[in-house]
Amino acid sequence: MSAATRIYVPRETSAVSLGADDIAAAIAATAKSHEQNVEIIRNGSHGACWLEPLIEVDCAGERIAYGPVTLADIDSLFAAGMLTGGAHPLRHGPVANIPYIRRQERWTLQRVGVTDPLSLDDYRAHNGFTGLAQAFAIGPAAIVAAVTAAGLRGRGGAGFPTGIKWNTVAAAEADQKYIACNADEGDSGTFSDRMLMEGDPFALIEGMLIAGFAVGASRGYVYLRSEYPLAREIFSSALSIAREHGWLGLNIGGRGFDFDIELHIGGGSYVCGEETAMLDSLEGKAGIVRFKPPLPALEGLFGKPTVVNNVITLATVPNILARGPEQYAALGVNRSRGTLAFQLAGNIRRGGVVEVPFGLTLRELIDDFGGGTASGRPIRAVQVGGPLGAYLPESQLDVALDYEAFSAIDALIGHGGIVVFDDTVDMAAQARFAMEFCAIESCGKCTPCRIGSVRGVEVIDRIVANKNREANLTLLTDLCDTMVDGSLCAMGGMTPFPVRSALKHFSEDFTAASSPQSNGTGGNA
Ligand SMILES: Cc1cc2nc3c(=O)[nH]c(=O)nc-3n(C[C@H](O)[C@H](O)[C@H](O)COP(=O)(O)O)c2cc1C
Ligand code: SF4
Repeated sequence: MSAATRIYVPRETSAVSLGADDIAAAIAATAKSHEQNVEIIRNGSHGACWLEPLIEVDCAGERIAYGPVTLADIDSLFAAGMLTGGAHPLRHGPVANIPYIRRQERWTLQRVGVTDPLSLDDYRAHNGFTGLAQAFAIGPAAIVAAVTAAGLRGRGGAGFPTGIKWNTVAAAEADQKYIACNADEGDSGTFSDRMLMEGDPFALIEGMLIAGFAVGASRGYVYLRSEYPLAREIFSSALSIAREHGWLGLNIGGRGFDFDIELHIGGGSYVCGEETAMLDSLEGKAGIVRFKPPLPALEGLFGKPTVVNNVITLATVPNILARGPEQYAALGVNRSRGTLAFQLAGNIRRGGVVEVPFGLTLRELIDDFGGGTASGRPIRAVQVGGPLGAYLPESQLDVALDYEAFSAIDALIGHGGIVVFDDTVDMAAQARFAMEFCAIESCGKCTPCRIGSVRGVEVIDRIVANKNREANLTLLTDLCDTMVDGSLCAMGGMTPFPVRSALKHFSEDFTAASSPQSNGTGGNA
């Protein structure tokens, strides 16, 4: 038999949900029946979800893409000479040349889709552990200085400077410190944490190792949402492989540095993603928000100094050390440095993950990458930053993606989740949904959030039903102010963002005539 032809079939949630496992099996069986020698590699996803399952055939070192492939296409793909890159209606040419992929600036997701996620050899061959080697070479203080100089800000939502956080934990005196990775990824339209953990799990492990070495922590936890069973499986395997090969455990790299990571499955509640609720949940308690101060950096997990960072934040660090903070800082605009893995979701033709520097506009992302709405109808609203993010009208789509520029229009970038709605959306229903979501997910610790959200739903219902309309509009405004000013955490404090923005930009929907006040999910949510 000739040398095996390498075929890449993603083992990633969106591809698997579209039949990638069966397709991998069918390719193996068909190749066998044709007496053709193939090696199937289960890679991660390049993030072009609209092309999944996107399979690639290695033709003399060039990876030729076909997608979206279904089981029914396997015979015709073989007949077309797929194994030598043959022409077929699903052929896209070299994967790296697909415009959606080529036009990205992949810093954090550099290996996602490219490598075999569970091959340490592949990881090392693609720059893996170079950042850790550099970290060992320069030492803890210089690592924190590099992360600070890069201008990296937390990608989990608040955009807090990572260098400052690490510096606080490094400076704290304690017998034990922790790294807690927040992989709860509860925001609507977000999936980049999952894609990273499924497609390049060693990058997160390396980021946590560097964080641990920098601040003097010997133990890390990953708090993963329960809704991600495949990420759990892949990341657990990666932990075992890393441990077997001495990348976790005692005396890592012969540097006298001990570090290990435990995977913890989340409690299934949105508020468990809030860092202090996550710490309580990790400790085995109910996920309820803690008062701050003390900051988790000083009294976090089990009362010890703890770095709490998002998956993408941590996975961005190895390359900052490998390539140098200046290169990272050179990307982006103003105080939003580097790149963000934006996620295109909702009513969008080409959904997926797009990693680009800050500074592009929403319109560029949605039109140039996303191809506009899936329905072909005009865009009416876009929600950025999860369920607590504002709804932007079409007229605001040219604001640059920049933390401060978004803040100036009372919006947020958050984790970079972008959910698009066309002109059939009912914005009063969306506003009601925001209040209802808060009522369901509130941890219950403070009154403005726990009770205010329930009252918010009722007031919106009365407005839409035209009952004492003006008085109820005033009441809703007051209620929103109370929630912003009086809530303990951003759950209650930011629920008014989507509500206020819907009222401000889409007030015409808040009347009985135009708002069917249906089930609270909106036209195309
Ligand atoms: C209600 C609520 C939910 C949150 N959910 C998440 C989440 O799922 N993932 C995440 O990384 N951060 C989440 N955050 C932000 C975290 O509290 C925290 O700021 C973040 O994990 C810190 O990491 P970073 O500095 O790397 O962003 C949430 C915050 C709030 C208020
Ligand atoms: S704002 Fe809501 S979620 Fe946050 S502490 Fe108060 S009750 Fe809990």
